[in-house]
Amino acid sequence: MIYLGVAALALAGCKQGDPQLGKASIDKVVAAMTLEEKAQFVIGTGMAGTDGQSAVIGSTKAIVPGAAGTTRALPRLGIPAIVLADGPAGLRIDPTREGDDATYYCTHFPIGTLLASTWNQELVENVGQSIGEEVHEYGADVLLAPALNIHRHPLNGRNFEYYSEDPVVAGKTAAAYVRGVQKNDVGTSIKHFAYNNQETNRTGNNAIISPRAQREIYLKGFEIAVKEADPWTVMTSYNKINGTYTSQSKDLVTTVLRDEWGYKGTVMTDWYGGDDAAAQMRAGNDMLQPGTDLQYEQIMAAIKDGSLSEAELDACVKRILNLVLRSPKMKGYAYTNKPDLQAHAAVTRQSALEGMVLLENRANTLPLKNVKNVAVFGCTSYAFIAGGTGSGNVNRAYTVSLLDGLKNAGFNVDESKKDMYLKHIADEEAAFKATLHDALAAFYPTPRPSEIVPSAAELRASALTNDVAIITFGRNSGEFFDRSSADFSLTDKEIALLKGVTAAFHAVGKKVVVVLNIGGVIETASWKNIPDAVLLAWQAGQEGGNSVTDILTGKQSPSGKLPMTFPLGLMDAASSANFPIDADTGVYFTNRRKDIGQKDVDQTDYAEGIYVGYRWFDKQNLAVSYPFGYGLSYTSFEYSEPAVENDGKTIKATVTVKNTGAVEGKEAVQLYVSAPAGTLDKPVQELKAYAKTKALKPGESQQVTLTFATADLASFDEAKSAWVVDAGTYAFRFGASSRDIRCEASAEVAASEVKVNNVLGK
Ligand code: BGC
Repeated sequence: MIYLGVAALALAGCKQGDPQLGKASIDKVVAAMTLEEKAQFVIGTGMAGTDGQSAVIGSTKAIVPGAAGTTRALPRLGIPAIVLADGPAGLRIDPTREGDDATYYCTHFPIGTLLASTWNQELVENVGQSIGEEVHEYGADVLLAPALNIHRHPLNGRNFEYYSEDPVVAGKTAAAYVRGVQKNDVGTSIKHFAYNNQETNRTGNNAIISPRAQREIYLKGFEIAVKEADPWTVMTSYNKINGTYTSQSKDLVTTVLRDEWGYKGTVMTDWYGGDDAAAQMRAGNDMLQPGTDLQYEQIMAAIKDGSLSEAELDACVKRILNLVLRSPKMKGYAYTNKPDLQAHAAVTRQSALEGMVLLENRANTLPLKNVKNVAVFGCTSYAFIAGGTGSGNVNRAYTVSLLDGLKNAGFNVDESKKDMYLKHIADEEAAFKATLHDALAAFYPTPRPSEIVPSAAELRASALTNDVAIITFGRNSGEFFDRSSADFSLTDKEIALLKGVTAAFHAVGKKVVVVLNIGGVIETASWKNIPDAVLLAWQAGQEGGNSVTDILTGKQSPSGKLPMTFPLGLMDAASSANFPIDADTGVYFTNRRKDIGQKDVDQTDYAEGIYVGYRWFDKQNLAVSYPFGYGLSYTSFEYSEPAVENDGKTIKATVTVKNTGAVEGKEAVQLYVSAPAGTLDKPVQELKAYAKTKALKPGESQQVTLTFATADLASFDEAKSAWVVDAGTYAFRFGASSRDIRCEASAEVAASEVKVNNVLGK
């Protein structure tokens, strides 16, 4: 319906003889555009309800209300506007429309971090396919996802959208997601390219990073996603890299992305990113979203004074036209506004199971056995968190709480406290909102409600009438804000609740399970031995309570593993030396606030280089609470027959995995490589490939094959500006986690060197 409106407009404006997009060549269409039309075409159509300058996340009323932006229509030349809408946990559009009784809810799928925790690329691709169907059926053309910045520091407020501290996990997960979404003939936008590793002053911060760390850690995932999945678009980030806004860096956008990686798609800015539209055009950042008048003026002025050539502008215009040409809008797709929400609810419920990580399970507490009556504690049990806040949030129809999930599965749950909990949560939320007066009030992640600690007598009574206790601890975060150091630890009340419940239940021989409904890493070492089991549920989407219950009851054995390290303490992470921990900014957020002269606010020195995550903990031989790749199962696995072959082009590693336990389960198999001593300083080991077994029955085995290019053994040598593989014997280590290597094999590898452009330096 809506498309017909656009098409009719296109026809109405069409003059006889004008070349039409899709009928005439792109070159002809560009030749028919005036300079003014070109300068308008590369910028978006603005954003509803803003003056074009304020830092409010994307929302436009045009075509698909609540989408983040649209491109310019040019009816005269048969060019429709296409719709760009947010992800990544699902499509983000308005759920209701003025004067319309219909609803436009989208499915809230698990957060990115949970998807990465599945270590299952096929599963991620299936989730992507379901998300893409909603994009297609709700009339959007490009999903502004996936987001794959590296988890450099535990407190980055957007880590929940991102995948991992490791670039291979980030890149492979993103590639799978892109393939899935794009199966629907809609586009994706891998973001934020690149180095967007903090929210504090995200639009002005200058990331100082060595070329080696850029190439090996921060760009690698993007390279994998571009080469393996060919996303329709790439979104540059807000921050600067070594002094230049990423969207204005020709090194990054043209030399590396296009020339070296062979990317042929379209590049767009993040919303209002950068400060010089002509420099963005010169860099090859084709489209400026959501678009401002100032950008139009900058482009026209630069053409006039010769600092931007019309050929440079044309190149950007053509790449946007290519994008429009492949869009559903261009093809006149008659979208239904009726995606299969029921089927997708089943997809999110099921896929969430595989990304939940069982952290502790003493004396086989889980799955629950002989349990009928369940005592539920913790505010979050009553108000589950589906996902983080900001543009990565989804307007879902509902969220299943833990309480409801347990009830749905037939447990008796004491509901007498439900109203009290819900009122307490609502009251604290309202009191907090009343203190907010800035433009971002709607996006500020509400602090978690203060925990309610029942009296010892109440807990005793509960322990007598219930078979088990479950406590949920929640944490939420989102765009614009990094988490605080306080958010990293459990509060005194949370600890009091945990200790109180455990004392009461253990006194009568009953068990206590902690569920973590969180979006980022927290401190666990000081309390993890108090309860009997700890399940890291992440933020599992709208079916969260049902998914957690499916794991608790053993419907499926957990098979998620950590895509990041859980350190003993916050300061153990090397990046803690240079991250705006609790930065004293004086405002709720520091976006667009420039030059306030604070270390890590204006400028962040990535002094740790490549030593991010496990690369650092391994180098220092530091104890951690849970290592990268860790996760328990209800069954056990044995690894045997490790083998590796190198034909000079490809490494092919195989290992046999056998289910040696009593129930069916899947295992995420990780392949780490240790290089021989060479000229460069090298990590102790690096993940190079991984795979998940099928569901193995007790006693069943599977040979798992892991392949990757021999050239991927290279490290980046800045002095030579080359990827260098040292000759020698490499160890190929098959691990159930980075610190649980089960067996290994070795292979000889010959030296090789691939020179690349000497760019991206200071
Ligand atoms: C976010 C992007 C998002 C865009 C459009 C920005 O604030 O950083 O991730 O796609 O808004 O809503």
